[in-house]
Amino acid sequence: MVSDLAAAPGNSAPLELVDLHKRFGSQQALAGLDLTIQRGTCYALLGPNGAGKTTTLNILLGFLTPDQGRARIDGVDVLADPEGARRRLAYIPEQVQLYPRLTGFENLEYFHALGSTVAADTDMLRDCLRRAGLADAAHDRRVATYSKGMRQKVGIAIALARRAPVMLLDEPTSGLDPQAAWELNASLRDLAGQGITILMATHDLFRAREVASRIGILVAGRLRQDLDADSVAGAELETLYLEEVRQLQGTGP
Ligand SMILES: Nc1ncnc2c1ncn2[C@@H]1O[C@H](COP(=O)(O)OP(=O)(O)OP(=O)(O)O)[C@@H](O)[C@H]1O
Ligand SMILES: [Mg+2]
Repeated sequence: MVSDLAAAPGNSAPLELVDLHKRFGSQQALAGLDLTIQRGTCYALLGPNGAGKTTTLNILLGFLTPDQGRARIDGVDVLADPEGARRRLAYIPEQVQLYPRLTGFENLEYFHALGSTVAADTDMLRDCLRRAGLADAAHDRRVATYSKGMRQKVGIAIALARRAPVMLLDEPTSGLDPQAAWELNASLRDLAGQGITILMATHDLFRAREVASRIGILVAGRLRQDLDADSVAGAELETLYLEEVRQLQGTGP
């Protein structure tokens, strides 16, 4: 129901990163990243500035080529079949770019026609806006009147209309007020509950626990912790995070 593409070859996990390495000059951005994310998981990837979060997303999106290792989306290798991998992905950037003079619905209609092969009708598109958490009353208002949180919801609706089984988000709640961040997270949790697999990079430890079912701590290009979100209390997560970061920066007690 979620996706025409949901039937992965074999029983592959929707996201599989194995021994990923990426270097920029003398900077080792990824140094053997292993990460597997199961279907319907909302995974929050935490990590300090420069940890390699965006580099990871860019490899999945095919914008960067890893030096070593492999990345598979729904069993499809991003290097061997970049088009196939890309079709299975939706990316919601921090700043969703929309046409301010068009309404939320018109933006969705436009971007869907431009970027997807999935047939669209009005009911399907409105349903995507609702599932993304945009109230009906806002669908036909110009985007110029939208808050950042509302624009992000249109971005999620565009992703939903494409029926991609995997969603990537880079710092989705940065710059959102607490209520907007809470709403966005509630929508993401619902989508994960519907079987969509979500990987989000974030700095927000508090909201990571709120939205995610699993939490990873990436430091210096390697996954140092891979945790069940319910198994760590907020203070414990902060302590773990700081320990991991300090150990690698040589500033630990
Ligand atoms: N295109 C690039 N050219 C050179 N260096 C890069 C490039 N992209 C990333 N880097 C370097 O790779 C490392 C990882 O960067 P990345 O952007 O993946 O970190 P991040 O975890 O997303 O950080 P932030 O939390 O600040 O967004 C950093 O040291 C960064 O300077
Ligand atoms: Mg980043």
